[in-house]
Amino acid sequence: MDKFNIAIDGPAGAGKSTIARLVAGALGFVYVDTGAMYRAVTWKVQQEGLRPDQESEIVAIANRMRIELIPRAEGQQVIVDDIDVTKAIRTTAITDDVSQIASIGAIRQLLVAMQKQMAISKGVVMDGRDIGTHVMPDAEIKIFLTASVSERAERRFKEMQSSGSCTMTLQELEHDIARRDQMDQEREISPLKRAHDAVLMDSTSMSIEEVVDEILGLCKDKVGGGK
Ligand code: CDP
Ligand code: CDP
Repeated sequence: MDKFNIAIDGPAGAGKSTIARLVAGALGFVYVDTGAMYRAVTWKVQQEGLRPDQESEIVAIANRMRIELIPRAEGQQVIVDDIDVTKAIRTTAITDDVSQIASIGAIRQLLVAMQKQMAISKGVVMDGRDIGTHVMPDAEIKIFLTASVSERAERRFKEMQSSGSCTMTLQELEHDIARRDQMDQEREISPLKRAHDAVLMDSTSMSIEEVVDEILGLCKDKVGGGK
């Protein structure tokens, strides 16, 4: 069976990265977390001591920096200018600024061009906000994965508790997720929205396994399963 591409979009905490990684593993495909690229730019911007509204300086930095995404069994390793930032890009300081930086047109242009390049050889499962609409509009499978805000906040809360990095209350997390959803949905350039041909999956009361199985079922129905 020929390889194909899978686009998974949706709001924060919907389960995109967890599910995309497992689907890629099951099919022997490459997983690409595009959110990590926007986070990597945000990390560099903060390292350089810039504010997220210093657009021209941010664009100049982004044009000079080198982002490498290395697929690993446990997820995707992110290297910026030879520094491993895989963990550093997940802090709340980065999460606070990332959506503002992701709304800069020239930043999106730069990262989308890199993402399109990664998708050329097919056999890619890519997750983000604009994958089905802009990055891989011709992806064979498109999923718009969502869940209620309270469920997504609870998932993130549990995740933070189990990693011992819980610096926010459940209420603060819910507020943060709702704020980011709004910025991502309302930005001018390639906002978060369901592609007209994407399958809508509400995972509010679905387990990770159920979502993965449903997507693998779609792959079998549509393109014969992969590998
Ligand atoms: O994992 P989480 O849902 O918290 O977010 P992420 O996927 O790491 O993405 C972080 C932020 O990057 C999002 O809130 C968006 O503002 C931005 N993003 C984007 O604009 N386009 C993408 N394709 C991926 C992420
Ligand atoms: O990438 P995104 O922000 O959409 O979400 P994620 O980081 O993959 O998932 C957020 C958390 O929800 C993780 O701890 C997942 O294990 C969990 N999750 C869940 O409990 N049930 C699901 N159906 C999907 C994800």
